[in-house]
Amino acid sequence: MSPQAHVTGWGKYVPQRVLTNNDLAQMVETSDEWITTRTGIAERRIAADDESTSSMAIKAAQKALSVANLNPTQIDLIIVATATPDHAFPSTACLVQDALGATHAAAFDLSAGCSGFVYGLSVAAGLIEAGQYENVLIIGAETLSRITDWDDRATCVLFGDGAGAVILHGNAAEGGVLSGTLGADGSGGELLCVPAGGCKRPPSHETVAEGMHYLTMKGREVFRFAVRIMPSATRKVLEMADLTIEDIDLIVPHQANQRIIASSARSLNLTPERVYSNVARYGNTSAASVPIALCEAVDEGYVHQGDVLVLVGFGAGLTWAATALQWSAPLPTDPQSRTKAVWYKVLYRYAKVRSWIRSLVRKIAAQFTKFRQ
Ligand code: COA
Repeated sequence: MSPQAHVTGWGKYVPQRVLTNNDLAQMVETSDEWITTRTGIAERRIAADDESTSSMAIKAAQKALSVANLNPTQIDLIIVATATPDHAFPSTACLVQDALGATHAAAFDLSAGCSGFVYGLSVAAGLIEAGQYENVLIIGAETLSRITDWDDRATCVLFGDGAGAVILHGNAAEGGVLSGTLGADGSGGELLCVPAGGCKRPPSHETVAEGMHYLTMKGREVFRFAVRIMPSATRKVLEMADLTIEDIDLIVPHQANQRIIASSARSLNLTPERVYSNVARYGNTSAASVPIALCEAVDEGYVHQGDVLVLVGFGAGLTWAATALQWSAPLPTDPQSRTKAVWYKVLYRYAKVRSWIRSLVRKIAAQFTKFRQ
């Protein structure tokens, strides 16, 4: 029997700084009333100057590893889903791999907009079921505040920063990831887009002056796409797992807009208690939204062992993805003991020192080669 992919660890990180609707009303012509009624968002988190997608991803990953009781060297693969990587390259996943000291892990970034984390779950589950990997760390992390035009009221009220991470572990037990569906429609690419900064329109004085390095969005069209695709992706993933709507204990949807979440719930005939939402607190954190919501749903006691969950996302691309899974991790989790916390601290310190020594050895070797030439 092929192994099943089970969630054994989860963790989130959100920046300290809270930006409320009233704060935004001081920056652009908007109001708390407009934002709340149109989106359900009350506040969002904004990364500090010294934070970035990798730093938030690392913190979320460290929490997930601690819940899973996993040593970083036991990770086989790290996937970071993000639309706001630290650099074009190296990948954010490689930065995470180095900081964790996950010396046996392969690492890559996954670009699928807000669907990225759910895409990553399917990819990871497939590799685990094929027997290629045993432990995969999947992270959704974003610093959207750095590509947001803070003068554009149509978009700046929607987005926030943060990171969420999950460990998938392969074993023969029943449950875990039951099915997954992925989709794309590139004809809708221009609906959600960062027009410049890539190789088609490299960054220049002109692109910056025109604000082409900021995200642009055709909100109404994205809305129409979202309310159609969330229910249909959910139905498809249930059908693939031989389940029905009645079998779902909780849906964890992409947190873009409370109206989209409520409309999808209505079309699926789901009562609000079966649809998790925290969009009010964080806004749309793109690829980070589903794992952050999953972590909070677990921490708030909405998830129980044996529950059937559907995680569903949509986003830039256009893309969409859904995963059905049966929760198998014991709940509640053990509180982290002091010894365990100290052990992980030592591991991460060692990872830092190891990385520094490796880079120093590389520099010395380069000097030595130059000297011999
Ligand atoms: N404050 C006040 N007024 C605003 C505003 C703001 N922050 N943003 C837009 N408006 C105005 C518009 O200028 C427009 O004014 P007009 O009628 O005088 O032209 C009016 O509000 C209505 O704008 P509209 O874009 O039609 O609003 P809407 O009801 O469609 O809501 C969104 C806008 C963005 C909230 C909604 O379209 C949406 O959520 N779309 C999906 C976005 C999304 O999920 N993106 C991420 C996908 S991963």
